[in-house]
Amino acid sequence: MKRLIPCLEQDKVEIELILLIKTILTACKEISFRVGQGALSNVLGSTLDENIQGETQKKLDVISNQLLKDMLLESGKVRTIASEEEDYVVAATENAPYIVAFDPLDGSSNIDINGQIGTIFTIYRAKNDVAADSELQFAQKGSEQVCAGYVLYGPSTMLALTTGGPSRLYTLDKTQGCYLLTTEKLTIATDTQEFSVNMSNFHQWSAGFSDYINDLLLGESGVRAKKFNMRWNGAMVGDMHRVLSRGGIFCYPNDINKPEQPAKLRLLYEANPMAMLVENANGKAYTEHERILDILPSHIHQRVAVVMGSTNEVNKCLTYLK
Ligand code: AHG
Ligand code: MN
Ligand code: MN
Repeated sequence: MKRLIPCLEQDKVEIELILLIKTILTACKEISFRVGQGALSNVLGSTLDENIQGETQKKLDVISNQLLKDMLLESGKVRTIASEEEDYVVAATENAPYIVAFDPLDGSSNIDINGQIGTIFTIYRAKNDVAADSELQFAQKGSEQVCAGYVLYGPSTMLALTTGGPSRLYTLDKTQGCYLLTTEKLTIATDTQEFSVNMSNFHQWSAGFSDYINDLLLGESGVRAKKFNMRWNGAMVGDMHRVLSRGGIFCYPNDINKPEQPAKLRLLYEANPMAMLVENANGKAYTEHERILDILPSHIHQRVAVVMGSTNEVNKCLTYLK
């Protein structure tokens, strides 16, 4: 089986970027090891702190953030860092070629139940006309990403990665400590009979989105004339891994009762990297109205509604949201 680095070389990925990806994945290998040890490595449970978004930080959120941040600061390849667990951007190496944003630990509520969790990351080129400590470094559309990926800490540790070409899957060989190519090209089927949404939010959705889900629930006797199955992991990384692996539609729509903050998922380090992986696997990724990768972020912790996965199903959903 092919190792990650030769795959990237074969894809003609520039050497500096390969070294940066390697740094991120070394940190993820360390996170994977600690996750695998669970209570034995003292990583379960909460801290007494909250992040800027008002969410209680789990120990593993903080540990993963620190590991990634320290390794990226040391790498010399990163000018600016943004993280879900950092209130503001962190200036790293002056004149370094890239900027990196990440969700160090996605699916925090799954940590203490031995459920699926992961790390989501994205890389852009640094802007030379913007200071390293300015969040305007990240005022770039998702279509400018030079690399996007996630590492899923599941029964096996898997990496989904795209550097502009196909989205590929690698599996961490824990006996050798390297990522091996296990799916050369992910292709999301255009049609699906599986949806992923937090149904407990039903009364917070727009009429259009509620109608869409209602029609799915009607099954064979309804307008869609087919039975739909539902899955909800509570970790975008786990739900999107399923969608990338066997198709489906994943939705986190706006909450109409919260006009001040209608969306839950973060554009920079959740929606954008997933959208790039999805598009490069033949899928489609939208908010309720626009292509995710076309949005110019207004701030680093901006949130957006998400509808992504199998192209025909995403298109169908969008017809209800006009
Ligand atoms: P995080 O753990 O990084 O804060 O992200 C959790 C996100 C996302 O992974 C998941 O899809 C969603 O929150 C789950 O939301 P619910 O609480 O509605 O299930
Ligand atoms: Mn997350
Ligand atoms: Mn997180």
